[in-house]
Amino acid sequence: MSVKERNRPAVAATVFGTLAVLSMSLVPQVAQAADAARGRKVMTTKSLGNCAACHKFPNVESPGDIGPDLIESMESFGPEDRAAVRQWIWDAREFMPHTIMPPFGANKILTPQQVDDVVEYLYSLKR
Ligand code: HEC
Repeated sequence: MSVKERNRPAVAATVFGTLAVLSMSLVPQVAQAADAARGRKVMTTKSLGNCAACHKFPNVESPGDIGPDLIESMESFGPEDRAAVRQWIWDAREFMPHTIMPPFGANKILTPQQVDDVVEYLYSLKR
């Protein structure tokens, strides 16, 4: 699946979900289930997400405050907003054309798996 196709979140989420389930049953090491611990690692690694440069989230020393507090943000995102949360990370320009948040998926800063892992971590903040 091309990156371009992924930019259509609703369709992509469905198609990707189906493919992920299919390929997991065939080749487990290729498509892994999203993992919150891996997502947190991506978020706190400077060469990857470096989310703490702009966002506050739990157990980060001196986070930046350029972006919203992600604990508070996740309070307003429900389970039905998962595709939107993923889109924020994939390419926030979809919602805010002039955002300074890097388009992590569209610009291949993160892999699709890493983006899924980050979403998993963000949703773990709600529990
Ligand atoms: C360079 C700063 C910067 C970085 C790095 C950054 N963001 Fe953001 N992010 C923002 C800003 C600023 C906004 C608010 C939208 C705006 O004003 O452009 C935002 C918005 C968001 C939102 C939507 C919040 C809401 O309440 O609607 C989410 C979710 C988010 N970021 C997650 C992340 C994650 C996860 C990472 C790391 C993978 C990350 N951001 C990295 C600056 C950043």
